[in-house]
Amino acid sequence: MAKIELPTDLRTGLKQQLEAFSAKELAQCVADLSHRYRTNLPIDGQRIVQSPKDAAAYAAFRLPATYGGVYAALRQVRAQFPQWQPQTLLDVGAGPGTVMWSATHPDLWPETLHKITLLEREANMITLGRRLAGYASLASIREARWHAVDITERWGTTPHDLVVTSYVLGELPRNSRAAFIDQLWEMTKHTLVIIEPGTPIGFGHIREARDQLRTMGGKVVAPCPHDRPCPMEGADWCHFRHRVTRSRLHRQTKAGELGYEDEKFCFVAMSRAQSRGIQSRVIRHPQVRKGHIRLQLCTPTGLVGTVVTRKDRELFRQARNLEWGSSFH
Ligand SMILES: C[S@@+](CC[C@H](N)C(=O)[O-])C[C@H]1O[C@@H](n2cnc3c(N)ncnc32)[C@H](O)[C@@H]1O
Repeated sequence: MAKIELPTDLRTGLKQQLEAFSAKELAQCVADLSHRYRTNLPIDGQRIVQSPKDAAAYAAFRLPATYGGVYAALRQVRAQFPQWQPQTLLDVGAGPGTVMWSATHPDLWPETLHKITLLEREANMITLGRRLAGYASLASIREARWHAVDITERWGTTPHDLVVTSYVLGELPRNSRAAFIDQLWEMTKHTLVIIEPGTPIGFGHIREARDQLRTMGGKVVAPCPHDRPCPMEGADWCHFRHRVTRSRLHRQTKAGELGYEDEKFCFVAMSRAQSRGIQSRVIRHPQVRKGHIRLQLCTPTGLVGTVVTRKDRELFRQARNLEWGSSFH
C-alpha cells in the first residue's frame, strides 16, 4: 500500500511550531487528548482542544492521519471529475487547516484553488493553523482566510466550488447535525465532501448525511457506485484505509515503533453535477489465493461477493492490481 507523506513545507512548519513543547509534554498531552476523545463519546458539542498545547498535540498526532484521509477521499472525487477545476474551497471545522493542505496536493488542485476559506471555533487551532500556513510554498494557503465561527450556529458565507468538513460531524451536538448539513449544502456550488473516522459511529454519521443530501437533490460522487440507499446492513460498516508515514516526533508522541500508521476513515462526496460513475467499489481487502481472487464489491444492485479465476485472464490481471477502495469495471 502506498504511503501518504505530508508535504515538505508543512513538515517544516510542524517541526518548528512544535519545538515550543518537549516531546514528553506533547506525549502527555496526546495521551490526555486521546483519553478525552475516548471517554467523552459521544463528544456532542464538548470542547476538546482547550490550550495551545492541545492544538499542538492535535497537529502532532492527528493531523498526519486526517491529512491522509482527506487526500484519499479527494483523490476519488478528482477521478470522478477529471476536467473539473475548482477555484474556491471552504473548510468547515478546519482545526489547524488540514483540508487545504490536502486539497492542494500535486495530485489534486494545487494550481486552480486560489481562494480558501476556513471556519473554526477554537482560537488556539486558528493561531496554529495560521502559523503553519506561513510556511506554505503556495500563496493560496498563505493567504487563506480564517474565520472564528461556531458552526452549530448560522454561519453562511458565499457558496464555494468545493466544500469539505473533515472529522467534525461527530463532534457536533446530535440535534444540530441536520441543520449543519443543510448549511453545508447551501454553501456548495459543486461538490461537498464529508469525512469521518472509520468506525461504526463515523459510518452512521456519513450514512445519515448521505440520506439527507439525497433528499435535497445531491448526487453521489464517491465512494458509492450508485445513488440508492446504502446497502450495508446490521453491524457492517463501509470504510477505507490509508497508510501515513510517521515523523520521529509522531513516533515519540504516540509511543509507536512503526514508521507508518494505518488510518481508517469513512466518507461521502455529493455533488450538484453528474460524475463519471463507476461500476463497483472494492469494499474489503481482496483475498488473493492461488488461482483465484475473492472480491467484496458494492454495486448498483447491492453488495456482491465475487470470485475471479485465472481462467478469465484479462479480468484476473485487473483484479490482481485492486486494493481495498479501488473502483472495478
Ligand atoms: C477532530 S478536529 C478536525 C480538524 C480538521 N478538520 C482535520 O481534519 O484535521 C475537529 C475540529 O472541529 C472543530 N469544531 C468542533 N465543533 C465546532 C463548532 N461548533 N464550531 C466550529 N468548530 C468546531 C474543533 O475545534 C476541531 O478543530
